[in-house]
Amino acid sequence: MTSELSPIDKAKFVAAKQATEYVKSGMKVGLGTGSTAAWLVQCLGEMVRNEGLQIKGVPTSNRTANLARQVGIEVITLDEAKWLDVTIDGTDEYDDDLCLIKGGGGAHLQEKIVATASDQMIVIADASKKVDTLGAFPLPVEVIPFGMRTTQSLIAETLIGLDVLGRDITQRTVGDAPFVSDEGNFILDLHLKRIGDARQLSLILNQIPGVVENGLFIDICDVVIVGHGDGKVDVRDITKGTEDQVRFDVLDDENLFADLTD
Ligand code: 5RP
Repeated sequence: MTSELSPIDKAKFVAAKQATEYVKSGMKVGLGTGSTAAWLVQCLGEMVRNEGLQIKGVPTSNRTANLARQVGIEVITLDEAKWLDVTIDGTDEYDDDLCLIKGGGGAHLQEKIVATASDQMIVIADASKKVDTLGAFPLPVEVIPFGMRTTQSLIAETLIGLDVLGRDITQRTVGDAPFVSDEGNFILDLHLKRIGDARQLSLILNQIPGVVENGLFIDICDVVIVGHGDGKVDVRDITKGTEDQVRFDVLDDENLFADLTD
């Protein structure tokens, strides 16, 4: 079973597995969206079913809600939870200050609300997500469908005065149809190539009428856990100022993988 997982999936798995160390019984946990977060949900589900872990999960998308229920995690809404102990999510990019670009899966609106309502946000990733400067990954901006082209023009005009390298904007699609978020909105992807001042860009974008939320996460993430294909995991806690390394030998545990990939 282990040999069936690609190095990148092993990296995502060990990052997710290490992140479960931050989850204790009684906690309310924000559950991210994407392929790395899906490993986390699988790992937590396994702990709920086999180790008596008792948690309530607040998913950041319909996809994650479905998976969480499937693996046995009790799902509640953010309004029921009010505040969360921890949120664990993937990312599309992270920099040295643990600023992020998220939204590759189109879920950054709920992800940002949930992460912001948490004592701690932990990002799990493989090493390919680390960048010196944010912006190579297109920045997702969720916009309401009403007047979407006008909103797009306003964003384009705004970008002219900002420190970015590219200014192309595309609407996200699924096949020939527009991608529609869980909130019923559209996503514009901003191909900026390099973002000089992510904090300024985030504030300015969110002032444009029609913009619901952009995918920049500034000063939200506390810990990044980076997995590698050989089972090594790097943990960086920006609040505590610590950097640690752990090594997993679970990669040889055929039964664990069998369970998680079923
Ligand atoms: C979804 C996200 C994801 O966390 C991000 O796209 C990373 O996904 P993956 O773990 O599949 O690489 O922001 O909106």
